[in-house]
Amino acid sequence: MRRRTRRLTKTDGVRNLARGRGRRRAPIDLDPGKFRRLGKTLVEDIAKFLATIASREVNPGRSPREVRKLLKGGRRFPAEGTDPSKLLREAAELVLDNSLLTGHPRFWGYISSSGSPIGALGDLLASSVNPNVGSFQLGPLATEMESQVIRWTAELIGYPTSTGGILVSGGNMANFVCFLAARRSSVPWNVRSEGLAAKSVGRFSVYTSAETHTWIQKAADLFGLGTESIRWIPVDTNLRMDVEELRRRILEDRAQGCVPLMVVGTAGTVGTGGVDPLREIAALCRQQKIWFHIDGAYGAPAAILKDAPEDLRAIGDADSVAVDPHKWLYAPLEAGCALVKNPQNLLDTFSYRPPYYTFDGTDEDVPTNYYERGLQNSRSFRALKIWLGMRQVGLNGYRRMISDDVRLAEHLFECIGRYPELEACSLGLSIVTFRFAPSGVDRSESGTEYLNKLNTDILATLQKQGKAFCSSTLIGKKFVIRACIVNFRTDVEDVELLPAMVAEIGGKIHTPDRSVVSARTPHRPAIRG
Ligand SMILES: Cc1ncc(COP(=O)(O)O)c(C=O)c1O
Repeated sequence: MRRRTRRLTKTDGVRNLARGRGRRRAPIDLDPGKFRRLGKTLVEDIAKFLATIASREVNPGRSPREVRKLLKGGRRFPAEGTDPSKLLREAAELVLDNSLLTGHPRFWGYISSSGSPIGALGDLLASSVNPNVGSFQLGPLATEMESQVIRWTAELIGYPTSTGGILVSGGNMANFVCFLAARRSSVPWNVRSEGLAAKSVGRFSVYTSAETHTWIQKAADLFGLGTESIRWIPVDTNLRMDVEELRRRILEDRAQGCVPLMVVGTAGTVGTGGVDPLREIAALCRQQKIWFHIDGAYGAPAAILKDAPEDLRAIGDADSVAVDPHKWLYAPLEAGCALVKNPQNLLDTFSYRPPYYTFDGTDEDVPTNYYERGLQNSRSFRALKIWLGMRQVGLNGYRRMISDDVRLAEHLFECIGRYPELEACSLGLSIVTFRFAPSGVDRSESGTEYLNKLNTDILATLQKQGKAFCSSTLIGKKFVIRACIVNFRTDVEDVELLPAMVAEIGGKIHTPDRSVVSARTPHRPAIRG
């Protein structure tokens, strides 16, 4: 009998998909047995990596070209897939053997912490379930865990636990969220619907010191104020904002028709770990009715210490605070937290309610939808890695680790002082800055150019050697090497090695005949946050 032929339809395609094979098997899926085997091997590789991290090079020192070669960077997108076990082996080798190790005991670069191992496992768990924490409906457990983490973060830094808040990718984003909340609250009309230029008042202005992290420029630029709206308030000799100058500038601006939007104080500046006079600034802001924001991305957790700088006790006075769990709470990247004291401010700033989302709930049990409280819509389950760390060590664990980091920084500062060829420049929270400035070299302004170049070269060599990793900053015109200890793996012998290494490298690079020779100048006093 002749079979009738007919054209294939879309329905046939779906039938073919299912025919004789049980459920659909997509090429990206892994069957549970294979997942288990691959997972065990990967965890085993990671455990070996963590067990040997201290004996590895901090910095593999590969150039961009070398890294591209490792990745066979020029190749096209492969048309066919690769066996997952082969692929994970390759990826583990690539990543574990070719990365700069922020978890190394002698990594003190920038303000990037060692990530907690439990947080790494948490990320695996979070990604395996993959809730979308934009709305309660899509991530009920993750949403409530995020709210708990926000409350606990507030509690840890001495901020009211009734605060509004949201987890974000890091310090920049946390500060942006707070900046936008301040803008919404401080502009005397509805800036969301009418825009900043709706009415002709004078220019808006924001007040901060030059020690503030560069997020402030991005915020002023991106959110419509322009960087010229930033009033850079001078700092005192300890690099803390001069509050009298702040008051003077606010009054002067007001007299000229400017509208102050916010004052930004920093709890732990990025350069030297300085803490602004937060209590005094808060009092001034209250008196002048100006939003007070604290960038505590790095330093706010130090408020937990019994001997914390007194100004950290004033964090609770701010209208908003940024704090980064991926810095001094040792959560793996990315984890920032924006706290806005009045929870309604966040909704007023970010909420829209489109018809394609549901808003069920009772008056007593209103679901939290985080997409209504920040810039993101779809959101990952950031809370889990932070929550695990918080539960693993408790408040006392953080108190101990942060205190140890501060004590190690103090010890480093002292050790530097024992080397006549080194100049210890500042100590704030857990950041130490210093430079190689051997006797016979002019430490005053006229010797700056030579010393800056010398220390730039010393730092580059230190970073290339791969035994320790520091970064740098400028104090005034002085280029200084900067060690920031937010690292639960750092120990006493690690910090004792650093001045010895810098002195040795400096001794080799220094060419006395090229330097300006004069009498030694005394060390500048330490800067305490
Ligand atoms: C005080 C301060 N604010 C903001 C930031 C930016 O944080 P992130 O790099 O997480 O965006 C940093 C980074 O070091 C910082 O130290």
